[in-house]
Amino acid sequence: MCAEDQTHAAEIPIDVNNDNDRDSSFEEELTTESTTSLNDSILNYRTLHGRRYHNFKSSEYWGPNDESQNEQLDIGHHMLTLLLGGELFLAPIGHHPQNVIDVGTGTGIWAMDFADKFPSAQVVGTDLSGIQPNWVPPNCKFELDDAQLEWTFPPEHFDFVHLRCLMGSIKDWPYIYSEIYRCMKPGGWIEHVDMDIEFKSDDGSVGEGHIMQRWSKTFIDCGEQMGRTFLIGKQAKGLLEAAGFVNVVEKKYKVPVGSWPSNKELKNIGQYNLLYCVQGLEGWALWILTTILKWSYEEIQVFIAQMRSALLRRANHSYYEVYVVYGQKPEGKAKEVAPNSEGEEEPSEVVSSADAPLSAGAAPSTNERVP
Ligand SMILES: C[S@@+](CC[C@H](N)C(=O)[O-])C[C@H]1O[C@@H](n2cnc3c(N)ncnc32)[C@H](O)[C@@H]1O
Repeated sequence: MCAEDQTHAAEIPIDVNNDNDRDSSFEEELTTESTTSLNDSILNYRTLHGRRYHNFKSSEYWGPNDESQNEQLDIGHHMLTLLLGGELFLAPIGHHPQNVIDVGTGTGIWAMDFADKFPSAQVVGTDLSGIQPNWVPPNCKFELDDAQLEWTFPPEHFDFVHLRCLMGSIKDWPYIYSEIYRCMKPGGWIEHVDMDIEFKSDDGSVGEGHIMQRWSKTFIDCGEQMGRTFLIGKQAKGLLEAAGFVNVVEKKYKVPVGSWPSNKELKNIGQYNLLYCVQGLEGWALWILTTILKWSYEEIQVFIAQMRSALLRRANHSYYEVYVVYGQKPEGKAKEVAPNSEGEEEPSEVVSSADAPLSAGAAPSTNERVP
């Protein structure tokens, strides 16, 4: 059973021989527009408790941009690619995409893989941090850019727009989607992949009051407090339709944390996901808990240690959901706004049965176009 197939399954069978121990393999190691001119301050990164952060004044983003977190993003890329059966995306974009953008590209790994796979395409990856490599495929470049500001790319330019894992980062999703719409060719595709951060289980091993649920609730609440929701995955379909996109498809995946599934592929995904989570914990928590909840460093470390311990406990059969949502800009000129302009959840072509239980068994070339 591949990850895609699990979307049809009632539950992920658990490997009963897996529960006895902690995951020892990991335990040990475990302005007004976006083209502002590049200045030193943007590359003059900030630090918090020894972790390094971006310094783009126009946006706040919770994640560090240091080696440890960048490595974690690359693990996430591998895990999410496995989840999509080895594919980089699901939208039916055809074989010869031309102008492609990866918004919030992180280390740029998706953009580089895409550029390698589609030599026809000119791929640009944008981010607040210039953490992408210098040596990149000739048809790929990176630009420092704040996606929350007015887009300076030409109208009707992109035929594929990709966004992934921007949960908790964006204040005004309708605005970004409308800027994307404006800069997309008619007939072009957008794909937004995002993870909700709600750790849960279907067998009660991660239930009400469990540290993993408290962890999720803490960050979801902080996201709402910051005005930058962590729940964008489940809102994306409604918001894309409200922005005028058509043929919008939502796919929902349960992503296990750890090696507890009996299915080989899901076990593999779960192991990468465990590594992704364990390595990401401090980076997820530090800025938000310090800045929003005003916790002390010691309090934060205790919370992280409790969560790490729960993640590594094999008897916790936890998962969270990943949403893959894609849609198309209509071929015609007219922008038809869907009735549900609030982006509320509504019945959709959800191919997964994620509601069913899981059971036991760069050198910034910069959009800032340097003067
Ligand atoms: C969790 S990482 C995901 C990176 C990449 N999309 C991936 O899936 O590997 C989120 C990235 O979004 C970037 N980001 C956050 N807010 C942004 C904004 N307003 N404009 C551009 N990039 C942003 C962050 O700097 C970070 O690199």
